[in-house]
Amino acid sequence: MKIIAYGIRNDEMPYLKEWEQKNPEVEVKVETKLLDSSTVEEANGFDGVVAYQQKPYTKEILDKLGSFNIKYLSLRNVGVDNVDADAAKANGITVTNVPAYSPNAIAELAITEIMRLLRNTKRFEDKQRSGDLRWAPEIGQELNSKTVGVFGTGRIGHVLVDICRGFGAKVIAYDPFRNPELEKQGIYVDTPDDLYKQADIISLHAPAVKENEHMVNEKTLSEMKDGSYIINAARGSLIDTDALIKALDSGKLAGAALDTYESEVGVFNVNFDSFDDISDDRLKNLMSRDNVLITPHIAFYTETAVRNMVTLSMDANKDLINTGKSDKIVKL
Ligand code: COI
Repeated sequence: MKIIAYGIRNDEMPYLKEWEQKNPEVEVKVETKLLDSSTVEEANGFDGVVAYQQKPYTKEILDKLGSFNIKYLSLRNVGVDNVDADAAKANGITVTNVPAYSPNAIAELAITEIMRLLRNTKRFEDKQRSGDLRWAPEIGQELNSKTVGVFGTGRIGHVLVDICRGFGAKVIAYDPFRNPELEKQGIYVDTPDDLYKQADIISLHAPAVKENEHMVNEKTLSEMKDGSYIINAARGSLIDTDALIKALDSGKLAGAALDTYESEVGVFNVNFDSFDDISDDRLKNLMSRDNVLITPHIAFYTETAVRNMVTLSMDANKDLINTGKSDKIVKL
């Protein structure tokens, strides 16, 4: 059995080596480059492909995999919004993901950013660089006196609900697919509008499906409380960036934390020589604000999560090749 693993980073290598030692019957080819039209030819002759989401898996790429008779594509991440579903189906390619490599990793980044915004830590850090160690005027706010609105209560949203409760916050949530356990606790509001209107802090944990595109827009932002905060550690496409910038300019929003950004492909996880070399003006605008926290899609980036992403995706690809089955098959 032969598997090619694309886009393997140095931090993933030890976990991949560990997996190879436990599965000596599998021949694994490591490709450090991402799967794209320039690298797809290398998959010829392999039984399965393991990759992770950073670039679109287009019809062109999936047709190529199909022409090599490759039927199994296992993603090391959760999101499948970069996979051309029609092309995968047309080529008979079964796709797996890793739906729960570490919900805590994402929820813990969300709470980190919520606390940083409420306590103005970016402003304090900026001031300190010029030797200003005074308190005022950055007086903070306490989470225990706030209402947190969790948009999406899948695995990640659920962990965040529990964490925020631990801080003593009031937590409300919206999800068209309610979690029975949380439903019993009475945390759900009936409509997204209710969430926008009632929460002081909204944290997004919804998938990048068509109907969620720009769900945070001029209209929904106008419904939010004055001086509220928004956190996005889910998908960049959920927020209309222009509307967000306007809401920050007007003071409608007191701050925002973005770990995902709608134009992040080709920018996040890239080393630019200087701030000026970043060509995206909207991103630079956001990065320059002392009430906006930008992290380059790092919510998943913990040792626990990365280990699970590698191990579980390799297991899934092997299962597919052996049996055609896996508990991680995605309905595209
Ligand atoms: C995901 O798992 O969907 C992520 O956002 C992580 C990233 C490596 C693509």
